[in-house]
Amino acid sequence: MQKEEKDTAGVESLMTKVYDPPENFKAQAWVNDDSPYKKADEDFEGFWAEAAEQNVTWFKKWDKVLDDSNPPFFKWFTGGKLNISYNCIDRHLATPRKNKAAIIWESETGATRTITYQEMYYEVCRFANVLKNLGLKKGDIATIYLPMVPELAIAMLACCRIGVIHSVVFAGFSSGALQDRIEDSNSKLLITCDGNFRRGKPLAMKINADEAMKNCPTIENCIVVKYNGMDIQMQDGRDHWWGEIIADAKPECEPEHMDAEDILFILYTSGTTGKPKGVVHTTGGYLTGVALTHKWVFDAKEEDTYWCSADIGWVTGHSYILYGPLANGATSVMYDGSPDYPERNRWWSMVEKYRVNIFYTAPTAIRAFMKWGPQWPEKHDMSSLRLLGTVGEPINPEAWLWYYKHIGGERCPIVDTWWQTETGMIMVTPLPGYTPLKPGSATKAFPGVHVDIFKDEETERPQAKTKGRLAITKPWPAMLRTLYNDDQRYIDTYWSRWGGKAYIAGDGAFFDDDGYLWVPGRIDDVMNVAGHRLSTMELESALVAHEAVAEAAVVGKTDEFKGQIPVAFVILKDGFDPSDELEGDLKKFVRTKIGPIATPAAVRFTRDLPKTRSGKIMRRLLRDLEEGKPPGDVTTLRDPTIVDEISEIVKAHPTGSK
Ligand code: PRX
Repeated sequence: MQKEEKDTAGVESLMTKVYDPPENFKAQAWVNDDSPYKKADEDFEGFWAEAAEQNVTWFKKWDKVLDDSNPPFFKWFTGGKLNISYNCIDRHLATPRKNKAAIIWESETGATRTITYQEMYYEVCRFANVLKNLGLKKGDIATIYLPMVPELAIAMLACCRIGVIHSVVFAGFSSGALQDRIEDSNSKLLITCDGNFRRGKPLAMKINADEAMKNCPTIENCIVVKYNGMDIQMQDGRDHWWGEIIADAKPECEPEHMDAEDILFILYTSGTTGKPKGVVHTTGGYLTGVALTHKWVFDAKEEDTYWCSADIGWVTGHSYILYGPLANGATSVMYDGSPDYPERNRWWSMVEKYRVNIFYTAPTAIRAFMKWGPQWPEKHDMSSLRLLGTVGEPINPEAWLWYYKHIGGERCPIVDTWWQTETGMIMVTPLPGYTPLKPGSATKAFPGVHVDIFKDEETERPQAKTKGRLAITKPWPAMLRTLYNDDQRYIDTYWSRWGGKAYIAGDGAFFDDDGYLWVPGRIDDVMNVAGHRLSTMELESALVAHEAVAEAAVVGKTDEFKGQIPVAFVILKDGFDPSDELEGDLKKFVRTKIGPIATPAAVRFTRDLPKTRSGKIMRRLLRDLEEGKPPGDVTTLRDPTIVDEISEIVKAHPTGSK
């Protein structure tokens, strides 16, 4: 107990400072009092029913708001019929939004493309017809492996239009990770491009896709966007250029009437085993959740230019670049490139150029900008900004204050939003016209969302400032419905701890005396590297696949800039000796198996790993050693002497991100 209380001491002084919503912001905000919270408390289902009615256009209204007859397999808006592409496009066409920009796209090279809602309609219909012509139908799965090009948004919306389930794989993943995800989903179609750009250099994608497809016989067709122009191989009969195959497609396609509970997409995310989990999201509840949260959390207004700097390969991009904003008829900026290319003012030059009003990014990016200095944003007129947001990891109060001052000009509220791939929508967040802010806290649950903190097996909220496990105690519309083809893993991972009474988020958290939520980080074996979720087990399985590795343990070391960085501890097989070259080899091996984001910051060769007598690796102890903390009680270890040995190895080669 004492230790847990001590954990929070560092932020104590900053936790007391409160930022009230500015009066002018409050006056114009969608929400500026506690009425939605009251309404949701008084009538939980009525609140969500109203949200579904006001934010979504239904072909047929639902029969039941929440079907909780078979927990944890909850269903929302059962019997309702809708189509997400219709909601994101067609319904805007009879309004002044018809020729409004849906997406303003810019690439690293400076190429731009603006797609109005009307143009989006034609593009999406044409691509939906391409999918149909290739024989895809409702319930089939398409894997999309694309960088942040407009075709990514078009392909996703075209899938929704005809009921094809999309599985988007982040473009930074390697062929191995892509292959795992295609195999698990048995998808029939892969959509990719020749290659991407990164800081002016070409980056291959089709080559990775070819590598993955060699072992994926379910893929019948592969559509390839021409993007960076690099030379690639096209396989006759299987591979088609996007530009050619879409050329004669009809620009009209009736939207499929989807059931509210039909699957919309699968998105793979890291769990506590080596195998990624296919998080399943469905249609009606998801759209209701993302449309309402996008409107209220970002206080999105008709005239705003909204920019979420995430990648659509992650859930943030699904929910808050594409579906939420387009359902609300917003203008969403989409940028394919690095924040510091060609210079460290790239993002801020875009804020100025497009007169961005709302900007949503990750703390890891803010910390990088903080390191580069305020002279970069200072070059630009950023007075258009009126609201800022963060997501993906805890924001340290120092970074919050920097963002507030140097990006927001001390006038923009900051919404620190806590949520997950599994939650689909923002769950804990300020409402910027109502909630007083505390730097570093995601503040309070969104109206109609119930979060609590429990200690281990107990379902009693612990005392304020005592850390426990973050739990969600009532279903919510955008919740995951299951893990693809693995109902049992869904139950075991998320619902087992409290006898099915609450969803286990996997985060450690605490409430302060004012009931504000603080989420310092995961308490399972999931790392958060520069806002990207990775499992230690995924890296460990990659490492043990190398011929030299007998055993591996990976931990996420706290890092000033990236939040966490992966550090690997490796026992070599007989006949292999530690060397810098082997360390380099292993790093490269992980990089090619998973992707650059997973590259270990260091590989430490060790004689043994700290294990309990029953053989469980004490990863927490390795993390403490790596972070230079005292390892605490080691008497339960099979071989306590290994602790000093590892400590020496760590001291000899300290790590940290650049
Ligand atoms: O640990 C929490 C952290 O990111 C995890 C979810 O990662 P992912 O599914 O990739 O989704 C990220 C984008 C929604 C959470 O379990 N996390 C996310 N937002 C916050 C956060 N931690 C603290 N504060 C946040 N605002």
